[in-house]
Amino acid sequence: MIEGNVPELAKKIAEKLNAKLIKTQTRIFPDGESKVTLSENPGKYCIVVYSTFPPVDSNLIKVLAVISKAKEHAQEVTAIIPYMGYARQDREFLPGEIVTMKVLNRLFRGVGTSKIIVVDIHSKIGLKQFAMKTENISAIPDLVKYFQKIKLKNPLVVSPDKGGEQRAKMFASSFGSDYIALTKNRDRKTGKVKIMTSKLAVQDRDLILVDDMISTGGSIIKATEFLKKQKCRRVFVACTHALLMNDAEVRIKKAGVTKIVSANTIPGKTSIVDISDTIVDAIK
Ligand code: R5P
Repeated sequence: MIEGNVPELAKKIAEKLNAKLIKTQTRIFPDGESKVTLSENPGKYCIVVYSTFPPVDSNLIKVLAVISKAKEHAQEVTAIIPYMGYARQDREFLPGEIVTMKVLNRLFRGVGTSKIIVVDIHSKIGLKQFAMKTENISAIPDLVKYFQKIKLKNPLVVSPDKGGEQRAKMFASSFGSDYIALTKNRDRKTGKVKIMTSKLAVQDRDLILVDDMISTGGSIIKATEFLKKQKCRRVFVACTHALLMNDAEVRIKKAGVTKIVSANTIPGKTSIVDISDTIVDAIK
């Protein structure tokens, strides 16, 4: 198994699978080119663990290079991409837009990927662009287990938008609470987010905002500001992928979020929920 750029997660998966862990060394040249070297060549069956978090394009070329090298020795290469960048580019929203997920399919196929396993991919439509075996697993059960250990007052699960309603429903049903989904509007050109829901009865309740990813923090901040105005108690955030670009974490806390809890698909301070067991179950 090749450890890639999420070494702690890869180590846990390798230990649970009793697989040998091959290390990678990455060198970035002054012109921005990256060069990855494997500590040794893999055997017949190889698993590559590589997240395509920012810098997305750079990590993408690295994972493709690693798979390509692995395929020179292995019969089958399974790519575990815990965070799949570009998953939001799954359809042509505005005329002329490129469906980059289609391009990723060609790239991953071209280097010889047999199967791709992703975690809570933003859009399953994106995954349908792949002409190989794919599997989308969810970190929600692991996130729920974390929240079951916290003492919450009359908790309510909230999705910041209608698109995430099923995710909130899944979280709430295994957590044992009710759920709601706000109506969010995002300007396709500026990316600005607006909450369209007008009123909610959340007074004095602890809320868990559930989302697949936090990028700029705009969605979570707008939702939190709205929920705080409705006089809720504390706001927690449960998300799978915490990209937390720039000062997103500071701005989210400033908006009134008590705690951000994310899965270890992307290394970071908030990535405290381990999903290695869930990934191992998918591999087996
Ligand atoms: C949107 O549909 C997604 O589920 C996330 O809510 C969104 O991508 C998060 O992005 P940001 O943090 O920039 O609002």
